[in-house]
Amino acid sequence: MSGTYTIPGPLQPFITDKAIIVRSPGRINLIGEHTDYNEGFVLPAAIDKAVYVVIEKNESDTIVLHSTDFNETVEYSLAAIKPVFGHWSTYILGVADQLQQRSYTIGGFKLAVYGDVPLGAGLSSSAAIECATAFALNELFGLGITRKELSLIAQKAEHEFAGVKCGIMDQFASLFGKKNNVIRLDCRSLDYEYFPLELGQYKLVLLDSQVKHSLASTEYNVRRSQCEAGVAAIQQQYPAVKSLRDVSLEMINGCINTADIVYRRCKYVVEENIRLQEGCTDLLNGNVEAFGKKMYATHEGLSKDYEVSCKELDYLVEQVQHTPFVIGARMMGGGFGGCTINIIQKEEADALIEKITEKYRNTFQKELKSYTVQIEEGTSVILK
Ligand code: GLA
Repeated sequence: MSGTYTIPGPLQPFITDKAIIVRSPGRINLIGEHTDYNEGFVLPAAIDKAVYVVIEKNESDTIVLHSTDFNETVEYSLAAIKPVFGHWSTYILGVADQLQQRSYTIGGFKLAVYGDVPLGAGLSSSAAIECATAFALNELFGLGITRKELSLIAQKAEHEFAGVKCGIMDQFASLFGKKNNVIRLDCRSLDYEYFPLELGQYKLVLLDSQVKHSLASTEYNVRRSQCEAGVAAIQQQYPAVKSLRDVSLEMINGCINTADIVYRRCKYVVEENIRLQEGCTDLLNGNVEAFGKKMYATHEGLSKDYEVSCKELDYLVEQVQHTPFVIGARMMGGGFGGCTINIIQKEEADALIEKITEKYRNTFQKELKSYTVQIEEGTSVILK
């Protein structure tokens, strides 16, 4: 099988006649941030930046992994897989471990990985590598696993081998992406629907702050526990409540003291789910401007109530908020660095980015990067 995607040059030396090549993309998210692990809704899409793996069996009980980005080869025994926190191989090992824990039989293999998803930019390079690995092993050993289960396997690998208690959004978006479509995913039922994204005179641009705070994964897990604490408080009066998905603003007001940090965390999540539902109606009505306003409101909530932004991301949003050319912008992903996502008027984009890049350099002594996003297909075999 061969698709529309070309094999990256750095992987050419690893291709043999037994090899399978899988591509799995990074993701953006239009709206619905920090809602996935609260069983809410998200609106992600797969993008034109991806991780590629070349894989083949090696008829042994070892796993031999090579990263072309790090120019490093590592070898592990299939029978004794453990996390190697902070190392690129941990995501691959995590997936192999999950498969074995679920009693799928895999043998030894050789895998080489290359990616052009910028690391630490909030585009889910880790989910892309997990999904590429899960999809490739499923193909190689004929395991017959569905995409849904592959997404759950990849998510669990992230929990256990990267230590981040992430929701399902990134892995789902990577596996289920569809060209030119966003995915409205119900993170409780995993029901999903595609929406064609038609932006007319506008396009999507990511501004990469080049900031990655080491706090990010710790704080991510803290946010998750704060939401759980909120649910526990609300359950005292409303025992049927299972997650913030079941909660209204009235319920939060009645159960949690407004001075409590948990109050602001829960309020943000509940408001964000409402914004997402209304935002989908805006998109269906072709009202991109109304959708964009909701993105600004999301940023405000993430920055002030959920407190996962940082000064650089706030600055990037402030710079565009009052120009008529950017109808929506916000920080994207887990936070504490990474990218803002912007809906920008096509003709004005280059001049505006140039201006902001200069101001950003003068303010933070950092070199801003920008990416115009194309929405692409999810994980697939590109050579077999
Ligand atoms: C990270 C996590 C996702 C999601 C986002 C925030 O990308 O991996 O599961 O929670 O943060 O929306």
